[in-house]
Parts: sequence; structure tokens; C-alpha cells
Amino acid sequence: METVLIHNISDYLDKEVKLRGWVRNVRSSGKLIFIIIRDGSGELQAIAFKPDLNEETFNKAKSLTLESSLEITGIPKKHPKKQDVFELAVTDIKIIQIAAEYPISKKEHGTDFLLTHRHLWLRSSKQWALMRIRHTVYYAICDFLNNNGFYRFDSPILTPNACEGTTTLFEVPYFDEGTAYLSQSGQLYLENGIMSLGRVYDFGPVFRAEKSKSRKHLTEFWMMDAEAAFVEHNESMQIQEELIRFVLRKVIKDNLADLNILERDVELLRKADAPFKVITHKQAIDLLRDKGINIGYEDDFGAEEETMLTRDLDVPLFIEKWPKSIKAFYMKRDPKDRNLVLGSDLMAPRGFGELIGGSQREDDYHLLKQRMIDEKLPMAQYQWYLDLRLYGSVPHSGFGIGLERLIGWLSGVKHIRETIPFPRMIYRIYP
Ligand code: 4AD
Ligand code: MG
Repeated sequence: METVLIHNISDYLDKEVKLRGWVRNVRSSGKLIFIIIRDGSGELQAIAFKPDLNEETFNKAKSLTLESSLEITGIPKKHPKKQDVFELAVTDIKIIQIAAEYPISKKEHGTDFLLTHRHLWLRSSKQWALMRIRHTVYYAICDFLNNNGFYRFDSPILTPNACEGTTTLFEVPYFDEGTAYLSQSGQLYLENGIMSLGRVYDFGPVFRAEKSKSRKHLTEFWMMDAEAAFVEHNESMQIQEELIRFVLRKVIKDNLADLNILERDVELLRKADAPFKVITHKQAIDLLRDKGINIGYEDDFGAEEETMLTRDLDVPLFIEKWPKSIKAFYMKRDPKDRNLVLGSDLMAPRGFGELIGGSQREDDYHLLKQRMIDEKLPMAQYQWYLDLRLYGSVPHSGFGIGLERLIGWLSGVKHIRETIPFPRMIYRIYP
């Protein structure tokens, strides 16, 4: 007899098969016991019917508790009423373990309780759906890049210097070398990689000691940084748009069932597969001022402003050409306005926040050096980065996608802590 996955059950109609998994739910009514089994690939109702079973098997079915592990044998049948739904007529049961009383029940639990039980919460349907979407998004990003000439180039996590400002650095004691820092983004190393490989990306955990309790911030999150030689600002935005639309289509195609479990409005999501909107930072400020917001031309946006700018949009929004005073030192100065940089943030529609930060990089040795001196960066730690502008400097651009932000938007969850297996936040490190 074959051992099969629930996902493939329709291939085995009316043939006896074995499944292995866990009890999602169990209820009995007289001669019938209904057992919902999940096995990682899907879920299925198994029905133990007393007249068809010996007493021992029926008693085993009766003894099952939530999350007990088992092997169950039976015959897959079409559901009598529902299309594309299958059931298993149980013929035999082998209990692997009877689970202790399971702490997560159908009743509403507070978020704190669920986060403390994250190791168990991950088994519930919505969390399962989110992890499956995460899997698709991760590989879709890699597929897009691999198909567009990017090489994977792994950047280090322990670094001697900051990439994104010094206020959110995690420090690590590092032998006789003093203090190392956990990487905030692999970008600076990727700029090195393009000089060897032309186009590169990394994809891994990055760290920010964010003192923010917002629903969009984690202290450890996953970033995909991409970098490309000879690509300038506008072309970089084009690549970003194509990449996001590619991932969007892939998730709608592969994870429709998961999006439905999450009650995501899929029609709305489909509308995002259209040309993205582009405005300048100045235009964004004008829009906000027209709406009565008190904000200056050198200000960054808070959550409230981000929501106002994207609330009514179906497609993501690029905000480009930022004042240099509020952006990172490495961004290239706009040749048309020396107070601006050729950087862009890509905002998700409807207030889901910033998905991507990107820019063309300053490729002029002297301009970059002066900017770094002005920002009082410890120059000795960055000499290698400046070197890249001495030996065959080329125009180049790159961007970083926050994986959890992207999953958060696609799946429609309110807080990105649910989009990563074990979220790390300012007030939580367990489990
Ligand atoms: O905009 P950021 O800070 O850009 C960089 O780090 C660049 N060095 C990337 C590059 O050009 N290669 O971060 C990139 C993205 C943001 O747009 C956001 O999606 C996400 O990372 N992000 C966070 N996600 C979760 N929690 C946080 N604390 C985040 N901070 C940034
Ligand atoms: Mg940013």
C-alpha cells in the first residue's frame, strides 16, 4: 500500500492508501468519528464508521486528541456534496503519540499568548498558509534574479561598519578586533561583487536594533539586496517593478488556496499587476500638504503619511528623488539638483508600507569621500568601499527588498511578525 500526501489524494480515489500526520480536530457522533488530519501538504477529513471497523480500531479513533500523531489507512472518496473536496473512509489507525492537552484551542487567544506559543501556533491554518506563501515569495525572487543575469553573492553578517546609519546597530564583541556589528544590509559588499560578476544578489537575515513597536518593524528580518553594474536609477526602478509583478503573479498562481485561508482580497491583489505609479518626494509632500498635513520638504514620512499616500492606490508607488539630508551617504547626487539623490522607496498600496529601498550609488570617489566625511563616518573602516571608486568605477544601482514586508502586503496580514517563523522584536526573543 502506498503512503501518500494529502495534496495528491485525488490521484488515489477508491484505492486504499496510508497517510501520516497530525489530528487537527476530532468530533464524534454515535457511530461516526470525524478526524481532520493535516500532514503539511494539506488537510483532509477522515471518517471512522463503527460498523466498518473492528472494535480496537474504532476505540483508537475515539482516543485521539488534538495534535496527536498517527498513521491512518483508508480509502479516498469524493465528498458527497462539495466539489474538489475528498474524504478518507478509515480502515485502520496506528497511533504514534497521543498528544497532551493542546494549549491552543478554537477560542480566541490573545496575541501575547500566541506569540509565547509560536512553536505551536505555526501549526494553525493561517500560519501554515503564511509559511507556504513565504516559501513561494523567497523562491520567486531568486528565480527572477537568476533569470535576469544576477549571481548569488553571499555577504557577511559580522561586519566592521554600518550600512544604514549607526542608530540601529547591534554590537558583538569580536576578539582583539574590538566591536563587530550585525549587518543591516549586504549592500556595500554587493557593490564589491558587481565589480567581479556584473550583477549580484544576497538573501539572508539582517538586523536592526529598532526601538520601534510598529507592526512593520522586526529586529531580525530577511532582506534580498540586488546590485547591478551599468544600471542607472530609472532602469533599476524598472527591474524592481518587473520583479515585484513576477512575484505577485507567482503567488496568485501557486498560493490561491492560502490567500483564501487568509481571506485576502485576491481581485484587489490582481489589480496591482499593472504599471506602478511614480512621484517625486517633493510631489508627495505637496500632496500631503494639500490634505492639510503639516510637513516640510526635507521630512521623511511616518506611518500615517505613508498610509495617506497609498490608501486609495491599487498599484505600488515609487517615491523618488529624495532630499539628500534624509537619505544614506551612498546615494548618488541628482545631477539636475545637488540637494537631491537618485533614490527611490517602493510603497505597497493601501498602507502596507515600504517594500523596497533602492538607489543609484555615488560612483565619484571625491564626492563620496566628502559626503562620508560630512557624515563623520569612521573612514578607516570604509577604505575598502571607497577603493571601489578608484579602480574602474562604473555607474551602478541596487535595491533591498524586505521579505516580511512583501509577504505582509501579498497576504494582507496586519502585522509582519506573522510572516516569519520566529519573529524577533524589541520586547520578545522567546521562543
Ligand atoms: O530601505 P532600507 O533600509 O534599505 C537598505 O538597507 C539598502 N541598503 C538596501 C539596498 O539598497 N540594497 O531597507 C530595505 C527594506 C525596506 O524597504 C523594508 O522593506 C525592509 O527592508 N525593512 C524592514 N523590514 C522589517 N523590519 C525592519 N525593521 C525593516 N527595516 C527595513
Ligand atoms: Mg528605506
